[in-house]
Amino acid sequence: MSVQRTLSIIKPDAVAKNVIGQILARFEQAGLKVIAARMMQLSREDAGRFYAVHKERPFFKDLVDFMVSGPVMVQVLEGENAIQKNRDLMGATDPKKADKGTIRADFAESIDANAVHGSDAPETAATEIAFFFPEMNIHSR
Ligand code: TYD
Repeated sequence: MSVQRTLSIIKPDAVAKNVIGQILARFEQAGLKVIAARMMQLSREDAGRFYAVHKERPFFKDLVDFMVSGPVMVQVLEGENAIQKNRDLMGATDPKKADKGTIRADFAESIDANAVHGSDAPETAATEIAFFFPEMNIHSR
């Protein structure tokens, strides 16, 4: 296994629930380091570009509406096997199907308001990290 970077977003529902710290603690407890972070309000254009792969899906408009409904916390996580490790911590897309003890099982309401985003592969991680962070704002340690 190698050290990887992945993009993580704490979505508007989890920010509104005031659980940013609890979610970041799970990453740290699993050995992932936060090496870049920013809190921001996404524009509709940002959200649409970020989720462009889903443009033709029936849930696309609701997804964009949700992602702009409040601020998000965006971070780069670094560690051994970070991409899969983060996906395991997150749990299944639908919180009803997410394993007990995962972030989505514990903090998410529904498949559309599901608390967190995490890159799903090395290529998407690289694109998504570059979408939010210039290299100079990433502090590998
Ligand atoms: P997807 O990339 O399939 O899931 P994940 O976030 O687990 O990688 O979908 C992206 C987001 O789109 C998902 O987090 C929530 C939303 N979505 C829906 O609202 N309804 C759906 O049926 C699906 C599949 C996704």
